[in-house]
Amino acid sequence: MNYDLIILGGGPAGYNAAERAGHAGLNTLLIEKRAVGGVCLNEGCIPSKTLLNSAKMYDHARHSEKYGVTTEGAKIDHKAVIERKGRVVNQLVSGIKAGLKASKVTLIEAEGIIDGKNADGSYNVKVSGETHTAQRLLICTGSYAFVPPIPGAKEAMAAGVAMTNREILDMTVVPSDLVIVGGGVIGMEMASYFNSIGSKVTVVEMLDHIGGPTDIDLAKILQKNYEKKGINFVLGAKVTEVKTDSVVYEKDGKTEAVKADKILLSIGRRASTQGVGLESIGVQLERGAVVTDRFMKTNVANVYAAGDVNGKSMLAHTAYREGEVAVNNMLGKKDVMRYNAIPAVIYTSPEVGSVGETEATAKEKGIDYSVVKVPMQYSGRYIAENEGGDGILKLVIDKKYNRLIGCHMIANYASEIIVSAVEMIEAQMRIDEIKEIVFPHPSVGEVIREAIFQVK
Ligand code: NAI
Repeated sequence: MNYDLIILGGGPAGYNAAERAGHAGLNTLLIEKRAVGGVCLNEGCIPSKTLLNSAKMYDHARHSEKYGVTTEGAKIDHKAVIERKGRVVNQLVSGIKAGLKASKVTLIEAEGIIDGKNADGSYNVKVSGETHTAQRLLICTGSYAFVPPIPGAKEAMAAGVAMTNREILDMTVVPSDLVIVGGGVIGMEMASYFNSIGSKVTVVEMLDHIGGPTDIDLAKILQKNYEKKGINFVLGAKVTEVKTDSVVYEKDGKTEAVKADKILLSIGRRASTQGVGLESIGVQLERGAVVTDRFMKTNVANVYAAGDVNGKSMLAHTAYREGEVAVNNMLGKKDVMRYNAIPAVIYTSPEVGSVGETEATAKEKGIDYSVVKVPMQYSGRYIAENEGGDGILKLVIDKKYNRLIGCHMIANYASEIIVSAVEMIEAQMRIDEIKEIVFPHPSVGEVIREAIFQVK
């Protein structure tokens, strides 16, 4: 069949773009080889948040005495949590399929491979022995968990001891000793869940801090919170071997090992560009990812790419927006992708929410900046609801333009609160303009208003 647009990959970039394109009247084919909803919905964002919510309820039940509430006999049934996760995922996948249908998008659940260009400028895509053509392509093939070439890693994976995010979210046993290699986003979220449900968790991280590019003050507070909860952090450690009962690492010139009955490898993801047929039309790659411009165009005419496959931000919400930018440009509406106000959240407890420049990136870029740092205790509601909470909020201000360019907080609901800072940065609001915004009182988010009034 001939379409106006063929989209390869039905994750957040692909399914959202397909709906937008379908609504706009483009005859659209969406091809997904594994599961509609992609990694985010099936083995990432949503499943992990479902697990973390159960852990949060369990933690509340066990540690509520300080709020005058005693709960006896609280239990968590990990198997039931995993079963519920399956139901949540199914419900959302059905919702996406209904949305695609309502937008008149054709969905094929099979592998699609690009197979060259025709004389009329259309592109071929082979699916289950059939060839479909379209004037435009949108590549949204996502990313995969990187398995490091560390001796023993592949064997430990084959033995079912080592896992990536995909397998761990389906694991029904509670490991007694879980070793997490990589203290980034996935590592910390899974460390949080398994710590809550009773595993002895060790995080082995190559850098001298957890949380990757997270503001260093926040990363330290996060680590301290989890050390108190019993997680063992081994930082500045290089993993040299993965065995089926331990992880071996080098730290300060010494070789040591930590016992493990399960191992999570969470050391980053790589763009999925192999086996897609990109070479058949000459799509340019850089370090394995598709090169895109501000309009989400690749180097090939009428071929766009959005989501993890371009390796730019690797977040579902970035993918949504990139897909929309691509579709708008296809439709002749000029739309430009901006990356300066994309929020990032680590859904631990407390949560970490960040947007824009950190002190480190502002310094790197030579921006003349100032910083305001306030404890979350500036918020009455935070104190009322977070006994002993040690959260902070940091604002980064561009002194030249008197604008907010970064906001970083560690506190529960940071994932929701950070949105107000996203809007301020996206709208390039000046500090004096932000001062006029009224926040609800009492709310945890009003701490942003408090901090804004401290900008000199
Ligand atoms: P990541 O890039 O966040 O963290 C990987 C960590 O592994 C880094 O701290 C790195 O220094 C460390 N590392 C690398 N090689 C190592 C080695 N050999 N030994 C020890 N440590 C090593 O990657 P992660 O956690 O796997 O997440 C993958 C992607 O998924 C990220 O792009 C992330 O943004 C996305 N994601 C986002 C979530 C969210 O928004 N809440 C949740 C989960 C994933």
